[in-house]
Amino acid sequence: MPTVFIPQAGRSIFVSGGETILAAALAAGIPYPHGCRSGRCGSCKSHLIGGAVDFLPHTPFALSPKERADGLILACRAQPLTDATIAWLAGEDEIAGIPVRRFEGTIAAVEDATHDIKLIRITLDDRAGFTFKAGQYARLSYPGAPSRDYSLASRPGEELVEFHVRRVPAGAASQRIWTCATIGDRVSIEGPLGSAFLREKHSGPILGIAGGSGLAPVKAMAETALDKGMGQPIRIYFGARSERDLYLVDRFTALMGDHSNLSFVPVLSENPGFGFRAGYVSDAVAADLDDLDGWKAYLAGPPAMVEAVGLVLLERGIGAADIHADVFFTPEHAPEWRS
Ligand SMILES: Cc1cc2nc3c(=O)[nH]c(=O)nc-3n(C[C@H](O)[C@H](O)[C@H](O)COP(=O)(O)OP(=O)(O)OC[C@H]3O[C@@H](n4cnc5c(N)ncnc54)[C@H](O)[C@@H]3O)c2cc1C
Ligand code: FES
Repeated sequence: MPTVFIPQAGRSIFVSGGETILAAALAAGIPYPHGCRSGRCGSCKSHLIGGAVDFLPHTPFALSPKERADGLILACRAQPLTDATIAWLAGEDEIAGIPVRRFEGTIAAVEDATHDIKLIRITLDDRAGFTFKAGQYARLSYPGAPSRDYSLASRPGEELVEFHVRRVPAGAASQRIWTCATIGDRVSIEGPLGSAFLREKHSGPILGIAGGSGLAPVKAMAETALDKGMGQPIRIYFGARSERDLYLVDRFTALMGDHSNLSFVPVLSENPGFGFRAGYVSDAVAADLDDLDGWKAYLAGPPAMVEAVGLVLLERGIGAADIHADVFFTPEHAPEWRS
């Protein structure tokens, strides 16, 4: 079984056959920076310092051909062929550094946000023990369903923990949660997870781009930034298909009334009614924003949206390290793509 040395952790880990370096590192309790765990976001980008790895499919947004030629890899897509040394690229500020634990809780509220998104609020038995950064996610286990990742839509200081669950056709977990979740049900969550959290030291403009239930982490980050008095421009684009897919618009409209640095733009790709931006959210961003040097962007939603928006942002001059993305997909369903 090959061993992989990770200098930032100061230790080596064993990686078994078929396992990725990221999976082995997380299982060993190392807070390796990560997001999607499926080669779509780039959060686990790393230097391959020594050794050889086999590389699983990934998107060019997560790792460009040039980056790969320069010796970078994605830890979530790399399986060691020999003993190896790899170091993550992210700086110290890029790691949440909060230990992952399991928490039990009870569903306190279930609310229809749209025809296919439900808001689920949970009272944790040990709320004080659960700390996280705005924008992180947790693995939710609902009785009778496989565990799945859902972004925390609530701010870290809120009593109830909130998730936005979109019903995926034939989805094993989302369908079960959607049809069965009721007040009083016992659930558990494991977390916090992910590296696409609000960077509170950043003083430049902030761009939040959400597709569908991707509004969950963007809401948590925008509200946290406003609560903390972050006064820079905070520009949010919310991509949805049609008006029936929009939610929390009144809430963001009220926030805009209280905070002149916040803007919230819904963009509808099908049948936009009067007063709505039409098209794909990536096109709206491309039309509105010329130069993104010095911005930080937080993206959350379906893979196609995150990739399309990510490529636009890079073209507009944002630093690759300033894009933080959560790609809403079940990691084991990675399609067969290669850069
Ligand atoms: C970091 C992270 C954060 C996430 N946060 C959220 C969140 O806040 N809210 C939320 O609703 N979801 C979120 N997701 C997605 C969620 O984890 C599940 O992937 C999703 O609910 C589908 O799970 P399922 O068991 O219902 O479907 P599965 O049984 O896993 O999949 C059923 C079928 O649907 C396809 N599929 C899987 N996911 C999607 C999708 N998102 N869109 C279209 N087709 C899909 C699969 O390829 C498969 O064919 C997040 C995912 C990640 C990785
Ligand atoms: S690309 Fe590896 S965690 Fe997203």
